Amino acid sequence: MPADAAQLRATKSKPLSGSVRPPGDKSISHRALMLGALTVGETAINGLLEGADVTATAAAMRAFGATVTRAGPGDWQVQGLGVGGLLEPETVIDFGNSGTGLRLTVGIAGSHAFATTFTGDASLTRRPMDRVFEPMRRMGAQVVARSQERLPATIKGPDTLVPIEYRLPIPSAQIKSAILFAALNSAGVTTVIEPVATRDHTERMLEAFGAAIEIETDDDGVRTIRVEGGRSLKPQTIAVPGDPSSAAFPMVAALIVEGSDVTIENVLVNPTRTGLIETLQEMGADISIAKLRKSGGEEIGDIHVTASRLEGVTVPASRAPSMIDEYPVLAVAAAFAEGDTIMEGIGELRVKETDRIAAVAAGLQANGVAVEEEPESLIVHGAATVAGGGTVETRLDHRIAMAFMVLGLAADKAVTIDDARPIATSFPEFRDLMTTLGASFEDVAGE
Ligand code: S3P
Repeated sequence: MPADAAQLRATKSKPLSGSVRPPGDKSISHRALMLGALTVGETAINGLLEGADVTATAAAMRAFGATVTRAGPGDWQVQGLGVGGLLEPETVIDFGNSGTGLRLTVGIAGSHAFATTFTGDASLTRRPMDRVFEPMRRMGAQVVARSQERLPATIKGPDTLVPIEYRLPIPSAQIKSAILFAALNSAGVTTVIEPVATRDHTERMLEAFGAAIEIETDDDGVRTIRVEGGRSLKPQTIAVPGDPSSAAFPMVAALIVEGSDVTIENVLVNPTRTGLIETLQEMGADISIAKLRKSGGEEIGDIHVTASRLEGVTVPASRAPSMIDEYPVLAVAAAFAEGDTIMEGIGELRVKETDRIAAVAAGLQANGVAVEEEPESLIVHGAATVAGGGTVETRLDHRIAMAFMVLGLAADKAVTIDDARPIATSFPEFRDLMTTLGASFEDVAGE
């Protein structure tokens, strides 16, 4: 257990009820701050996620010379310096736990002819960075990193960035976005080919900011995205919708706590992010989306969930990109489902904030759930009841922490996590929001 860790315990809950609003979408929040920094003039953002991952991006944009201010909760302004106009940071940029903040900013830093040095916490400095360094090197940037391309690392852009054509070797919106952000400051047209669609917030936002971007999708769903460099961006006003990856926790809690009836309002329902809802519905979940509307180029809705009897399903590998962050909480739903849930093609989970396949398997086993772990898949043997009573290692991973707090709300015995602090990276109001719905969590004094 980490020093000064904050243990938290969830006990079997009475029915959850009421309406809540999840915090702003993490992916959109990062991108709004970054594109704001690449425009001249003021970009206004409301509903910005104020988790540590996103405030690390705000600090990074300040380090590059942008003026980033906060007028009130979620209400932020960015005065940028324009495409190619950022200044060399005076200090090392520390992205803490945030892989998205770091990898997207590598694309921006590498398109400027100065040196930027990045570091992160004990989780981020273990994660693979070659996935963004390699395309940046092809564009002419120099990168020096620790062995195995780990952080700390320094990137220095060339005087003129070379446009490239790049076929994504792994379905990753982070890699795609790093290249597209770099492309803004290159001399020509950069092409990213995406064989499997990933979240498309970068493309939608680039269009809104006035970038020269074109997207084609062929009959097999392969997307070709072209960005022409050298065009200036126009400041925008952005309303950040609620994060479906955060909404996932009250959603699954409402499904597994008997008698629950919950509405989660103002949630982003962009089809590149709704794989969890689709999967849970296949499992028999009573989930409906009401008041579908559009705001700032994204679809939003209110999600209504009632407690449901679930059945195990096979989740195909092709669905992984649209629910990549939701597998830990899906595994919790699967623990309460009748039969086996087989999650295929999820090898990428091994290089998230922690190895999420291993962390989920260990956490479920500690609470009496039978699982089978394979290199690229996970099988959960569900049963209507879960024993609970275990302590789960969160391993600097916010989603492992929240998933197991949700498990504890429906398990027979209380479930404890060894450290709740990572939750603040993406969902600082998790505990308050869940308590509003009737969940009970208690702090555990060092035992
Ligand atoms: C994100 C992309 C995903 C996801 C991460 C956010 C983004 O990572 O896991 O939490 O905002 O682009 P990959 O694109 O590497 O799968």
